[in-house]
Amino acid sequence: MNIVIINGSPRKNGATAKILHAMEKHLLQKENVSVEYVDINSLNISPCSGCCSCYKTGKCYMDDDAEKLSKKIECADGLIIGTPTYASNMSGQLKQFIDRGHFVIEQLLHNKYAISVVTGENYGSGDTSKILTKLLKYSGAKISGKIIYNLPFNRNPINKKLASKAHHLSDNLHSDIIKRKSYLFQTLMHSVIFSVGIKPFVKSKGESYNGVLSKWKRYKVIKHEC
Ligand SMILES: Cc1cc2nc3c(=O)[nH]c(=O)nc-3n(C[C@H](O)[C@H](O)[C@H](O)COP(=O)(O)O)c2cc1C
Repeated sequence: MNIVIINGSPRKNGATAKILHAMEKHLLQKENVSVEYVDINSLNISPCSGCCSCYKTGKCYMDDDAEKLSKKIECADGLIIGTPTYASNMSGQLKQFIDRGHFVIEQLLHNKYAISVVTGENYGSGDTSKILTKLLKYSGAKISGKIIYNLPFNRNPINKKLASKAHHLSDNLHSDIIKRKSYLFQTLMHSVIFSVGIKPFVKSKGESYNGVLSKWKRYKVIKHEC
């Protein structure tokens, strides 16, 4: 089992990282689990230039760490993404990767399980969690759980209750992947969003979205051309 953990905070030892490392440590105690822990801020990721060529070719013309990290996610069974709340949203560093990361249109997380972790100080962490969780769902993932945690800046978030929640959600992710848990409501919602929104949109774009169709076939989102 292969799990990718992304710390979206520029702080390698901040509150978000501490929660993510607690999850990483817990997962690594299990048999046959490998974890790739990534600090987004240590990667070289240029902002999306909006050329839309990836929709046609299936890859970005900028061959930087965004492409490499997307590939790692493509090959993973599960994903844990954490971010601090910045102005009631995710960090800019994480958003910059997400804009480059082939998430929603290409259904990067099809058949994968995911957890979102959001820390904040006062207001907006709930909104941030909604934004991040929606992105994961729209990209095809099943949500095994989420953490939203508010605390004073630069304080260690790990206490008994939070550590137990982090371990519990890691256990959920692990068992969901093994059992291929179906999450009926999430599956239904995703299938409506995909068939009413995403698929007709891509179809209307014709050849200029051939790269997206190839990805869908590779990920088995569709069996035949739509
Ligand atoms: C630039 C900046 C903007 C922030 N904006 C918010 C915010 O809108 N709402 C909030 O609750 N906390 C906000 N915070 C606080 C952080 O989200 C919070 O301290 C978080 O736990 C930091 O995570 P980290 O230690 O992993 O970097 C902000 C912090 C910074 C540095």
